[in-house]
Amino acid sequence: MLKVMNEERCTILEGNDSPFLNGAFKPNFKEYNADTSSLTVKGEIPEDLWGVYVRNTHNQVHEPLGKYHPFDGDGMLHAMYFNNGQAEYRNRFVHTTGFLAEKGAGNALWPGILEPDRRAFRGWGAIGAMKDNAGTDIICHAGKLLATMSQGSEPWRLDPVTLENLGPDPKLASVVGHDGIAGEFKIDSKTGDMVFLNYPENPPCINVGIANAAGDVVDYRRVDLPSPRWPHDLGITENFIIIHDLPLFFDAELLAAGKRELRFHDHIPSRFGIIPRANLHADVQWFETEPSFILHSANYYEHGDEIIMDSCLSFDPKGPGVSEHKDHNARIMAHLDKHQTKTRLHRLTFNLSTGKSSQTRINDEIVEFPVCANAVKGYPYRYAYASLFEPGQWLMNGIIKFDLNTGATTRYHYGPQRYGGEVHFAAKRNSQSEDDGYLIVFVQDLAADQSECLILDAQAIDQGPVGSITLPERIQTGTHACWVEGERLHGEPQHL
Ligand SMILES: [Fe+2]
Repeated sequence: MLKVMNEERCTILEGNDSPFLNGAFKPNFKEYNADTSSLTVKGEIPEDLWGVYVRNTHNQVHEPLGKYHPFDGDGMLHAMYFNNGQAEYRNRFVHTTGFLAEKGAGNALWPGILEPDRRAFRGWGAIGAMKDNAGTDIICHAGKLLATMSQGSEPWRLDPVTLENLGPDPKLASVVGHDGIAGEFKIDSKTGDMVFLNYPENPPCINVGIANAAGDVVDYRRVDLPSPRWPHDLGITENFIIIHDLPLFFDAELLAAGKRELRFHDHIPSRFGIIPRANLHADVQWFETEPSFILHSANYYEHGDEIIMDSCLSFDPKGPGVSEHKDHNARIMAHLDKHQTKTRLHRLTFNLSTGKSSQTRINDEIVEFPVCANAVKGYPYRYAYASLFEPGQWLMNGIIKFDLNTGATTRYHYGPQRYGGEVHFAAKRNSQSEDDGYLIVFVQDLAADQSECLILDAQAIDQGPVGSITLPERIQTGTHACWVEGERLHGEPQHL
């Protein structure tokens, strides 16, 4: 069975030559249902693989209002559901308020991240100007997917298998209001709790909340900041939440004059705030480290009195010589090219008793989008998986696995003109150890003009995929992805 369920009408002009709307970033407009009776399968789909891999993408439908940034596009989810050696593929747009309004109008109504002052209507996000595109992050909590935009959008829920749009989550929406939910929510798989944040510009703060395994928001608090910040990640451990106050933020003088320029303030330390999960309103314990910027972390956990945080750090997050680029697309690429920002995996420690911190580089490889197995999120762990990057591009060209106990690495490159997205670890049914499972990723092949879902043995990624499934269309390069275990498709396990 392969069926086109819907096709959105694209209004992007034929001559639009934005590099983020063409090539590897070319958007998709058809929504499919397909299964392995109609898709080409190479190798095998393991019988002990049960669950769904979901990738979000910024998949723009309309000719943009002004300059386009690759984080502006409409959210589209691509999902592969595995069960009993078979698989089903679906893709759907996220029906946000902004998406439906633009669909009705037949054109873009909100500007993107680069030109918020072009807005004619109140929007969403930290600045309140963008469409709530919900194209950044994706996770499954309390039996439903949650898709959001990195700056904060309404909390959009979808069914994890059918991808049916279920609207904004009323429990979350009633608490966060217009500040929305940013990306980088984290789930403690042992308790089923989800921790989330947003970071409105006015007043400048980070709001942090906890939803329990049933999806009820049990606590929510505000942490005031010195000025509007632009954080991204959020960490959890068994007993703590870790928030980031990093020195990449809007220049205060320019902001006062109504202009926005994200500047790396290389004389201001990075700050990390530790908050007890059991007492969210307690004083925040702050730690300072060398100025840096962090998008993503492999994991956080506790070791005695210390919090351990394994994150991808850049000490030049705007990219060298970025101000010399006259073209805004070149400036965006300088910021996104991990080989220019030299983003590498580091280990930071925060000692809760002494107040001291430390920072060491784990490995010299240029990497980002690090992940660990869902089961060890927030707890001591051994294995991290991250994406390798094409120099000069914002394209992921392979996977690397870090053994953090021995320092050993193994890797798999997708091949020439083949690019992936965030990879995730899927534990086997009856998994016997932390890495006893598979790595799942969607890869696009520009030369063949097709995409595949790759399944790799997590204990032998250098051997290449054990199986692959060709998708109905080449899909664009994506943002975040997630793995939802079969046991979590209808709710967090302790609530089953
Ligand atoms: Fe992110």
